[in-house]
Amino acid sequence: MGRGDLEPEQIVRLEEDGPAVVLLDQRRLPEEVVDLRCATAAEVAEAIRDLAVRGAPAIGIAAAYGLALAALRGDDLAEAERVLAGSRPTAVNLPWALAQMGEEPTPERARALHEEEVERCRRMAAHAAELFQRGTRALTHCNAGGLATGGYGSAVGALRAAAERGLLERVLVDETRPLLQGARLTAWELERADIPHAVIADSAAGALMARGEVDLVVTGADRIAANGDTANKIGTYSLAVLAAHHQIPFYVVAPTSTLDRVTPDGAGIPIEERDPAELTSRFPARNPAFDVTPAALIAAIVTEEGVHRPPYEDSLA
Ligand code: MRU
Repeated sequence: MGRGDLEPEQIVRLEEDGPAVVLLDQRRLPEEVVDLRCATAAEVAEAIRDLAVRGAPAIGIAAAYGLALAALRGDDLAEAERVLAGSRPTAVNLPWALAQMGEEPTPERARALHEEEVERCRRMAAHAAELFQRGTRALTHCNAGGLATGGYGSAVGALRAAAERGLLERVLVDETRPLLQGARLTAWELERADIPHAVIADSAAGALMARGEVDLVVTGADRIAANGDTANKIGTYSLAVLAAHHQIPFYVVAPTSTLDRVTPDGAGIPIEERDPAELTSRFPARNPAFDVTPAALIAAIVTEEGVHRPPYEDSLA
């Protein structure tokens, strides 16, 4: 696969001939660019749990295709929905997308949902580009690129849009321990987009901010509560605290499908705890996959509807 934008159907698609949900296996990037075929909804759920497909909007899109796959096969839809919904707990896009599929989970409906998510990304990226100025040096965490949204990207979409407008000097990419979504996936996407970037150890972010090398921080989100508290990849909260200390704006870019208006604040967001063996099998370990950044640390939340400023109870309502 060459450089340039990944087409949405290269990231995840439904093949009716088979049938199967086919997705770019993100566990194997950047070394290998290979597809994973999922023949049942349970296999799609397994691919989501195992991070073959990951990132909040992409998880929702894959689940929508998984439900359409179950319908094509004539499988028990309630069971398929249960298995898909239980695959990962934090990204609200997963239950949102399953609910969007309604009573008739057709391939057309899943494809429309996928297209709409990518379109939302393009719109929010255009809004987010307004937050950049000529020569901006940005820092991002995890992967909120096309791989994470089914195409174009949220935070990485913002970086793309800023770069297209000549506003972006370069991007520092947190490696994002323990599974290296930044060092493996974001760096790969930025390389394909010809955006200057450098991977850094997560623990280097504070020192580089102190040296004046970061103008803004931009990340995606897995779930945004009604008050603006935002769950995202573990390490995001630490970055937001560092950004506040250095008076650097911290921005979240996410589609409205990531808003959870039913959950009043971050305390109600379920945080996935993953297998400690992802860190070490030798010693006891804790492995929370997400954290919650309090709304007070977020300078703006950008959705496809525009740039939302605090108080988020009002601006996101
Ligand atoms: O565990 P992951 O890789 O699914 O975590 C992904 C993130 O935390 C992303 O930043 C988030 O889903 C936003 S993706 C547009």
